[in-house]
Amino acid sequence: LNYRVPRTRKEIFDTLVKGLQRLEYRGYDSAGVGVDGPRKNDNGDNVNICLIKKRGKVKALDEELYKNDSIDLDIELDTHFGIAHTRWATHGEPNAVNCHPHRSDKNNEFVVIHNGIITNYKELRKYLKSKGYKFESETDTEVIPKLIKYVYDNSENDYVSFSTLVERVIQQLEGAFALVFKSIHFPGEAIATRRGSPLLIGVRSKYELSMEQIPIQYNSTGETLIFNTECVLHSYLLVISCHYMYLFMYCVLLPCSLHAVIYLQDDDIAAVAEGKLSLHRMSRCAGEDPNRAIQTLQMELQQIMKGNFKAFMQKEIFEQPESVFNTMRGRICFDTNTVVLGGLKDHLKEIRRCRRLILIGCGTSFHAGVATRQILEELTELPVMVELASDFLDRITPVFRDDVCFFISQSGETADTLMTLRYCQGRGALTVGVTNTVGSSISRETDCGVHINAGPEIGVASTKAYTSQFVALTMFGLMMSEDRISLQKRRLEIINGLRMLPGLIKEVLTLDDQIRSIASELYQQRSLLVMGRGYNYATCMEGALKIKEITYMHSEGILAGELKHGPLALIDKHMPVIMIIMKDACYTKCHNALQQVTARQGRPIILCCQDDPEITKNAYKTIELPQTVDCLQGVLSVIPLQLMSFHLAVLRGYDVDCPRNLAKSVTVE
Ligand code: G6P
Repeated sequence: LNYRVPRTRKEIFDTLVKGLQRLEYRGYDSAGVGVDGPRKNDNGDNVNICLIKKRGKVKALDEELYKNDSIDLDIELDTHFGIAHTRWATHGEPNAVNCHPHRSDKNNEFVVIHNGIITNYKELRKYLKSKGYKFESETDTEVIPKLIKYVYDNSENDYVSFSTLVERVIQQLEGAFALVFKSIHFPGEAIATRRGSPLLIGVRSKYELSMEQIPIQYNSTGETLIFNTECVLHSYLLVISCHYMYLFMYCVLLPCSLHAVIYLQDDDIAAVAEGKLSLHRMSRCAGEDPNRAIQTLQMELQQIMKGNFKAFMQKEIFEQPESVFNTMRGRICFDTNTVVLGGLKDHLKEIRRCRRLILIGCGTSFHAGVATRQILEELTELPVMVELASDFLDRITPVFRDDVCFFISQSGETADTLMTLRYCQGRGALTVGVTNTVGSSISRETDCGVHINAGPEIGVASTKAYTSQFVALTMFGLMMSEDRISLQKRRLEIINGLRMLPGLIKEVLTLDDQIRSIASELYQQRSLLVMGRGYNYATCMEGALKIKEITYMHSEGILAGELKHGPLALIDKHMPVIMIIMKDACYTKCHNALQQVTARQGRPIILCCQDDPEITKNAYKTIELPQTVDCLQGVLSVIPLQLMSFHLAVLRGYDVDCPRNLAKSVTVE
């Protein structure tokens, strides 16, 4: 950071910590910062780097900063480059040593933060060990600071710039990385680079509020903060809003806040020195255009505040009437019964001619594919496969030029999904992104796509993104079937259903108290089964995933059709079971499953439609939902399970937004 007026180290810490707090939801088993240490040489340059790292949440790191007596918090600095990172462990247990920044040696000559995975780290580690380097952590990352020191020590006779050193290092790395380097040999400088992992630079300069598409070869006189997720731009804004009153005013006066960012591409090297940013391509890419546009993103500040809710997840569950509406906003004309998804319309002919549709995702996004498969089969009259990204790659699944592959991802950054996208692209398929994050890797790398417009989702357990993905995919089916005369009646029914959906979601949310009271009877149980079939099978899987993710209870989504092939053995009077029985084509079959469960003394809690006496009399308890079109019922039936998981987690005393071992966005394989 290059300040116009001197800043105290305390302000620098606060800047970094606030940024980390905004990032925390992405991974949070430990956190660390690297800042210039107190020692200076005769030129006034900082000659040491101070690393402070802590296991646990950012709050623990924040407390640690103030405990460290060796750091003078009140000292004023004109220029400073601090780096900070929250970690979600992939190699090595969560502890302070494994946490970033990692260092080259005890003098902290080079320090590095890394997001991604270095796949050839074992070979590099072995080599560096043979050269006498001592490793202190179990991470893959630690080879990077060691390697840069090795390169630096071995080029002593000629002056090598910081960015050249970095370039020499990344030539040796395999895997995926977004990296930021800092070194005592290059005070006030930092280098950032990426390959495979996303990396953005948030730029604040005097041009910021008006610039669009200005090439990045200029000298910024403001601060440059380097982040590896788009979402952290929120923190950038918040950080700035605390320190710079005029920008804060700007944010308050206008409904939207502007964020200027540069998306780095693979093998871009960004260097910050004396607060000025420059960008170039790695030398092996010489001749390629290094200019990167500064793009302006719009984000409403209130969208990322928790408001009166206890947790972001709870807020996001209750936002669904609006988020689902926003997914449809401006895309459905209820007068003419037409649906237009702008990002797909130019590719519609090609999609209609395709051999099959393949819906690919992970976790909740995969479930959105399961939830809409049946209606897409009906409306598109095409074979539809739904695939887990990791499994799709493991199988080396055949993909053809006339396949259309959908990549469903809230974050747009999930590594498994992104790699499957590249795999399908390499085989010539048309690729379609269904993401919630404009500018994410998946939205940029796909041929075309739909933005689900659900607004930022912060809670690790995905909720509103699921219902918006559900609606967006259904809208795609409607768009595909626009000129099929035989499907018009069905289309009309669904379009009307979509129109009513936000109101019905509101109605479902009024069941919150009832669901909390059921949760208070269940929260000490070890297991919870969720059973259903047809359109509501995806709800079972998604509901069980929510319960697992945040309550740590064992939970399984069971296809009721499979009950007699195994799961029935689990049923007795002690096993809690939630059954979903809606008035659709599977109603009678679900009823049979209910009989089988009650015959084994099971005491099911049943999610059913309002006014269904037949079901109510067989249930231990019921949660009654308004009825909608069969293919949209899953949007409503998932909400009680989202609420149930939330209340169970609160009652069990867990942190809903930060479930153990999980991260919002999994950018490693
Ligand atoms: C992680 C999250 C899940 C999410 C999945 C896919 O596992 O914890 O909530 O469903 O990633 O994420 P994506 O951003 O691709 O939808």
